Amino acid sequence: MTQIRGFVRASRRPGELGVHSVDHFNLAVPDLKQAEVFYGAFGLDLRPEGQGLGLYTHGHPHRWGMIVEGPKKKLAYMSFGVFEDDFAQFRARLQQHGIAQLDPPRGFESNGLWFRDPDGILLEIRVAEKSSPSEKSSVVNDVPTSGTQRAPNRSAAGISRPRRLAHILVFVRDVSRAIDFYSRVIGLRLSDRSSDGIAFMHGVHGSDHHMVAMAKSDAPGLHHLSWDVGSIHEVGLGAMQMADRGFSAGWGLGRHVLGSNYFHYVRDPWGSYSEYSSDIDYIPATFDWEAGDHPGDDAFYVWGPVPPPDFTFNYEAA
Ligand SMILES: [Fe+2]
Repeated sequence: MTQIRGFVRASRRPGELGVHSVDHFNLAVPDLKQAEVFYGAFGLDLRPEGQGLGLYTHGHPHRWGMIVEGPKKKLAYMSFGVFEDDFAQFRARLQQHGIAQLDPPRGFESNGLWFRDPDGILLEIRVAEKSSPSEKSSVVNDVPTSGTQRAPNRSAAGISRPRRLAHILVFVRDVSRAIDFYSRVIGLRLSDRSSDGIAFMHGVHGSDHHMVAMAKSDAPGLHHLSWDVGSIHEVGLGAMQMADRGFSAGWGLGRHVLGSNYFHYVRDPWGSYSEYSSDIDYIPATFDWEAGDHPGDDAFYVWGPVPPPDFTFNYEAA
């Protein structure tokens, strides 16, 4: 856990009911071997588990995701982590809102709460350790030095290895409806939005500027999984290691406005993306972030290449 590795205590906003983390995601893809090649090249640690693959970051005990085989690419579910003493209140909240509780999907033993969001995306709320950061993530190699070559030689550059899952961006049919649901039921807070096109939400107990984001489409789906790396150097290095392995399609290098992170998106074999992200804004548990509504063309990215024409196409709906 983040707090064990860096000895950072899990942050918490007292008296507020909200999930603290995206504990993990479950993604179905048509070819597990392809997934192993793609996410392995991306710098993740894949471990065979049950019928699928567990997605880990090297040197970190948390399992950020599961990849299972399915007829086509589909975000199977998102699982949110909550503090143990909040769990009963979440159960009561679901009942208050008349949200039907479902059995866990077949093959997934779990005593969490299972239900669907207004777009039909399957969600779980479970008791878990806080895996979202409890302080601003560090940026490495940010020390001014002189009198020495600071860039590694190409042969010594190594590869980029993400430190943790940063966020998930999903497609929804109605962004305002999603903001309402994820605020009232899940207990996230709106960070920023661009009208009805996209919304970014953070955790009340301290999280990055967004742990979940929603973009408008005509069907639900996964747009991207974002992975935190330690520096802009590692964003670029990651892009290079993926291009070297044949995964050159994507978008970057650039800098987002909302979240302020540096990014490079690599297109996965199924038309969604994995993002190398560095230096994203952080919203502490004690801070009331004022949500803004930013015109899309002024807030998508500060600088970077023009995105590919199908960057926001929902291949899961096709
Ligand atoms: Fe992102």
